[in-house]
Amino acid sequence: MGRLIVQGQARLVGSIKVSGSKNSALPVFAAALLCDEKVILQNVPDLMDVRTMMEILVSAGYRVDFENGTATVNPATTPNTVIPYELVRKMRASFNVLGPLAAKYGTASVSLPGGCSIGVRPVDYHLEGLQKLGFSIQVERGIVTAHLESKIDHVIISLPFPSVGATEHLMTTAAILDGTHVIIENAAMEPEIEDLADFLNKIGCRVFGAGTRRIEIFGTKRTTGCSHRIIPDRIEAGTYIIAIAATRGDAVVENLNISHLTALFDVLKTSGVIFSQVRQDCVRVTMSESPRPVKIQVTPYPGFPTDLQPQIIAFLSKAQGTSTVIETVFKSRFQHVDELRRFGAKIEVTDGTAIIHGVEKLSGVQVNATDLRAAAALVIAGLMAEGITVINEVDQIFRGYENIVEKLSKLSAVIEYQE
Ligand code: EPZ
Repeated sequence: MGRLIVQGQARLVGSIKVSGSKNSALPVFAAALLCDEKVILQNVPDLMDVRTMMEILVSAGYRVDFENGTATVNPATTPNTVIPYELVRKMRASFNVLGPLAAKYGTASVSLPGGCSIGVRPVDYHLEGLQKLGFSIQVERGIVTAHLESKIDHVIISLPFPSVGATEHLMTTAAILDGTHVIIENAAMEPEIEDLADFLNKIGCRVFGAGTRRIEIFGTKRTTGCSHRIIPDRIEAGTYIIAIAATRGDAVVENLNISHLTALFDVLKTSGVIFSQVRQDCVRVTMSESPRPVKIQVTPYPGFPTDLQPQIIAFLSKAQGTSTVIETVFKSRFQHVDELRRFGAKIEVTDGTAIIHGVEKLSGVQVNATDLRAAAALVIAGLMAEGITVINEVDQIFRGYENIVEKLSKLSAVIEYQE
């Protein structure tokens, strides 16, 4: 595992371009399994997780070419519907190929995803939903096998929690259950859900209501190919916006969708950050003082995103007072707090809530990254701190941040990656 060396007291200036969304590309690749014809995906970020998903499609017998951000997927001539453990182990989102493969070929087997550092990651909503769609589910020795047993005419699936992955998995699976009418209630509303629905409708499926809590799908048999451009990565964009503000910088962030980041902008404006919109897909971020403290509740979209929670806590560690961040999506997603305390941050965590007492100074230290968003938070703290920071076990940051060293260097950060 490599490490990042970050020079402190940085001030981020200049401009950077946001890449395509990891969390849109992954479900869209899973949906490409449905296609009977060639699919072209543009603005695909070159990330470890995206490469893993492409490997999964290849292991299923599909042909995948990827060059300069454009991926071409050709349907399988000899499909394989048993996905190897070593691929699924690498990335939880791989599990979402189970439904599409089983819907298209009648049966499929995928290993249960492991846990991860941000908490227990069950898939009960996925499995219960697949059963309601007419699949039998067997779980043996960590392998889940789904088999299309019965034809369902009409079903309502109410999710106990607006799960992003379960919404995407069930929407994609239902899309080709010919003649089946499915309603998903309490669906996730993230922009990535809308992008997935947009893709599914382009290949001939009939998905309505994405972006609301109620999604309706009319299963269709045949699908076509299409060309689709992945939406900008709102979490990557938000991470850089927070980093610019945290270093009292003045920089432009391009190729983002401003409407996907309303909750973040509201929080940062309250803390004193100045935004000026240069274009619809471009914003200038300016901060000249220590942030004012804020109270944040992390909730499913359109609320403040859990994937920016570690980063905003790093930003608030030098605020002019005490801030609170209540995490309601992954209640134990606070492993980064122990590492931030090593910089001198004063943070208490009780029952899913972080209390951040702003300090005057952070000092550069050696730290360990626990997940990709925690790694981003440690980079932000390193840029804010006095002295040098070394972030060990950092390779997972490349799962979600394309060319992060180059992009931060372009913003005048002094940062180096060492194997
Ligand atoms: C997606 O994960 C994202 N990953 C995560 O981003 C993101 O943090 C999360 O949504 C929440 O926004 C991708 O899109 C690839 P969930 P997902 O199902 O789908 C519980 C990143 O850094 N739950 O919305 O796995 C679950 O435990 C990653 O890019 C069940 O109980 O998240 C959690 O408490 C990290 N049973 C809550 O729902 C289930 O069957 C939300 O999880 C499914 C979920």
